[in-house]
Amino acid sequence: MKVTVVGAGNVGATCANVLATREVANEVVLLDIKDGFAEGKALDIWETAPINLYDTRTVGSTNDYSKTAGSDVVVITSGLPRKPGMSRDDLIATNAGIVKTVTENVMKHSPEAILVIVSNPLDVMTYCAFLTANIDSKRVFGMAGILDTARYRAFLAEELNVSPKDIQAVLMGGHGDTMVPLPRYTTVGGIPVTEMIAADKLEAIVNRTKKGGGEIVNLLGTSAWYAPGAAAAQMVEAIVRDQRRVFPCCAWLQGEYGVNDLYLGVPVILGKNGIERIIELDLNDDEKELLRTSEAAVRDVKGVLDGLSL
Ligand code: NAI
Ligand code: 2OP
Repeated sequence: MKVTVVGAGNVGATCANVLATREVANEVVLLDIKDGFAEGKALDIWETAPINLYDTRTVGSTNDYSKTAGSDVVVITSGLPRKPGMSRDDLIATNAGIVKTVTENVMKHSPEAILVIVSNPLDVMTYCAFLTANIDSKRVFGMAGILDTARYRAFLAEELNVSPKDIQAVLMGGHGDTMVPLPRYTTVGGIPVTEMIAADKLEAIVNRTKKGGGEIVNLLGTSAWYAPGAAAAQMVEAIVRDQRRVFPCCAWLQGEYGVNDLYLGVPVILGKNGIERIIELDLNDDEKELLRTSEAAVRDVKGVLDGLSL
């Protein structure tokens, strides 16, 4: 198995490191546009192999896509974070240009690959990659829900003083402040979370989760990478090992949840073909309304992309 990670920055290098350490693939190629950057990161990761005792080879490439040829899965993390003075629309245009070019190059050398998109704004960059790749939507999807539920689960574990392993949760919608954590589908060792925590504390955790990305940006001055990189690697592992894991992922909806022609976070089964199935939950009216609000927010951003002549 061969996996390529495009973008050797914070998230991409972390993802490659997790993939290598867990021996998810025989070869992990890291590619970046910055001269020597991916080679340096790949070499540093490879030099941990004798310490961490794994065999996966990590290879770096400065924009040479021939080294990525025949990849089974490609993770796209290339893109700029928002900078001071940059409008949201500027960011969309810049990152869409990057995601489009990268996807074209990736598909030229790995026409059978499954694409996992990480670049922001996530839901719309995934759509951009889908339009560019022109392949079955089962093979193009985005990482956000695993990260967002991981934050939600970590906060709950801390509050309840239990193992994070025992917290299971579903979260839907776009990757932004309108995301929809679902307490009704959250359990602690099989016990509904509402039986374990006061309503006001749960509400505070839901709100903290929605702003989880911003919390890290405020602390670090840039966005998170350990949890995002690990989350993307978990998706790759589910595909490569055909695990049929149930994860919230950003998937192309064609009528599911009443949503048409939009990438949005929903629970799916991930396996060797990519999205094996989209799971449709029987949402109540309040949950449906929250999902509609999130859908509208993502449609706004999609409108900006649709207006660009890329
Ligand atoms: P970073 O700035 O550390 O790394 C991005 C890398 O992409 C840089 O090394 C840059 O040289 C490279 N790059 C830019 N244009 C390229 C091109 N045309 N071809 C190849 N490489 C190119 O940024 P970081 O922190 O790794 O974040 C990457 C992206 O992931 C950002 O858009 C960020 O907002 C997003 N993100 C998404 C998350 C999610 O949940 N979906 C979570 C965290 C970050
Ligand atoms: C995050 O949620 C900013 O998408 C990035 O950390």
